[in-house]
Amino acid sequence: MTIPEPLFPRLAEKAERVRWKMEDLSWGKLDAAKADPELLAMVKDIAFSELTTYTASQRFLKDFWDDADFTQWISVWFYEETRHPQVLLKWLGRLGVEVDGKFLLKGRGTAAFMKSRMGTLVTNVISEMVASSNYFNLGAHSPEPVLAEIAMHISNDEARHASSFYSYAKRMLENSAQPEVDRRDALKVLYMWFQENDRVKHPVNEFHGRRQSGPEAGLLLGKIQQDYAEVKRRACRRIGNLVGLPIANPEDILRHLRNGEVA
Ligand SMILES: [Fe+2]
Ligand SMILES: [Fe+2]
Repeated sequence: MTIPEPLFPRLAEKAERVRWKMEDLSWGKLDAAKADPELLAMVKDIAFSELTTYTASQRFLKDFWDDADFTQWISVWFYEETRHPQVLLKWLGRLGVEVDGKFLLKGRGTAAFMKSRMGTLVTNVISEMVASSNYFNLGAHSPEPVLAEIAMHISNDEARHASSFYSYAKRMLENSAQPEVDRRDALKVLYMWFQENDRVKHPVNEFHGRRQSGPEAGLLLGKIQQDYAEVKRRACRRIGNLVGLPIANPEDILRHLRNGEVA
């Protein structure tokens, strides 16, 4: 078998090119009057959800130990994901909300992983797409300007992460010794994510479920839910492209599985 060209150099260079700097954010424009307790609590929840990256990175390094290319890229991913709670906590800190080491450790608690490597990669493609859309909405609707700026940067990071996980999933499928099993695993994950959302434990979903009330959160969550349908459609198309089948919605997945288009 020929060894595929590594993706890491290209993805890492791109990551460096587009990286935003903490100190370049418009901290001088921070407007405490525009951040009510509800918004502060919500951002604290989001920062908490981001902390699972620690557990996830450990699992990635363990489960993909023999994939030198992917595990190198995980170092970039881990670094960038660590900046997300860091910048959100910095924003909170400037507004008088402090967290301690216990908060940081507790947040590392959950990270669902699957036995299937392809399933894990596809889970991350979808969760990064959903996260990107959530942050985009936070950026578009945050009443506080610096939070809006931060959210847009994170949204772009998450979108790029989705593309990178996709590249690795595609490469894995192209070189797979069992492509039919991998394609099936990819479709199962897609189906589970959107049809049985409550059962797929993932920080982004946990964030979705955690906050249901309050004026700021209510408005934002309404928008997030609206956009969720669009993210769902885009994720279906993207994973459809990955496995080479037209998928417009989760029902199509069952049809493909039933028709035997996936072994
Ligand atoms: Fe993140
Ligand atoms: Fe991400």
